[in-house]
Amino acid sequence: MPAPLPSIDAWGDLSGKRVFVRVDFNAPVAEVNGVLEVTDDFRLRAALPLFATLLERGASVVAATHFGRPNGQVDERYSVEPLRRRLAVLCPEVELIENLRFHPGEEANDPDFGASLVAGFDYYVNEAFGASHRAHASIMVPPTILPSAAGPNLSREVATLLALLDSPERPFIAVTGGAKVKDKLGIMKVLAAKADLVIVGGGMAYTFRVAEGHTIGSSLFDERYVEECRSLLEGGNVLVPVDSRGLPDGAAFGPDGGDDEVVDFGADIPDGYGGLDIGPDTVEIFEAALASARTVLWNGPMGVFEDPRLGRGTEAIARAIAASPAISVVGGGDSVSAVSQYGLADDMSFISTGGGASLELVEFGDLPGLRALRESPVSARG
Ligand code: 3PG
Ligand code: MG
Repeated sequence: MPAPLPSIDAWGDLSGKRVFVRVDFNAPVAEVNGVLEVTDDFRLRAALPLFATLLERGASVVAATHFGRPNGQVDERYSVEPLRRRLAVLCPEVELIENLRFHPGEEANDPDFGASLVAGFDYYVNEAFGASHRAHASIMVPPTILPSAAGPNLSREVATLLALLDSPERPFIAVTGGAKVKDKLGIMKVLAAKADLVIVGGGMAYTFRVAEGHTIGSSLFDERYVEECRSLLEGGNVLVPVDSRGLPDGAAFGPDGGDDEVVDFGADIPDGYGGLDIGPDTVEIFEAALASARTVLWNGPMGVFEDPRLGRGTEAIARAIAASPAISVVGGGDSVSAVSQYGLADDMSFISTGGGASLELVEFGDLPGLRALRESPVSARG
């Protein structure tokens, strides 16, 4: 396992000191009565223990986040104003500066931009686990300039995910899903080596179905990865769907639903249809497998669960994991929102604030933002 991260514990009293905190407040927002409001403040709340500790020790705290992808330009649609309104309720003592990605220097990892951010500050804390896979200026540059540390939430997320992979209670079952097989093959190979069983659902499962010789109609499919899927299947511990559920081609689907009835397919999907959820037999097989698990890592939904017609697989798997006595760890933005949508957050052992970051940490065992803290020449060691 990589060396421990520097901690704020070593800094002691911070009276009169200014602390710059990189957070990941990239949270979902929606218009309510004509005003944008944060609809899930999980990522904001994750930073509150750090803020409380810094404020108790006498520091003044300024926080900074990216928000959406404004591509280095000022774009009012991505102003952090809704985040500020929510933060003012949760912790009014902390100031939040405007979206880091309004500056081209942020994503370019420009050293001058990074230095300008922390000019006049005494300390830097990275409490942005969800952004630590990005080698961007606010993540990489401050640790080269100021005494720097990992926030408690970031440290806990890293320790939890790495410990899970290192010494899981067995049987250890990984549940993977999501749309694109391309994005998940790397992590699947790591999981197939470490877990007793890897369950596959979501759009990515159809490339595995093709590798098994089935027809998939117009379902998501990436021909380039059929061979890799086949060799993963040959490993013998990868479980893929046996049936699926979907819609005729051209049918509308999404958060607002649509008019067409969903169709249950058996093992093969005819032309003119596409699969968008796992089918009932698959649900039973996955539930039976999960019943024996002692550790579950879940990343990625089983179908297009944002559409209520296509959420049965994801909901059933979420409920099976929640009901199981296994240690359950959920990572990835979509699985986390599914868990909260079904009201199951309290039944999971650990929910990561990271999407891509949790995937990359599992796949590579480290992240650029964590290396920056460890390699900081000026960091206080906890
Ligand atoms: C996320 O939401 O996954 C993180 O905040 C990172 O955002 P990004 O994918 O736009 O870099
Ligand atoms: Mg993302």
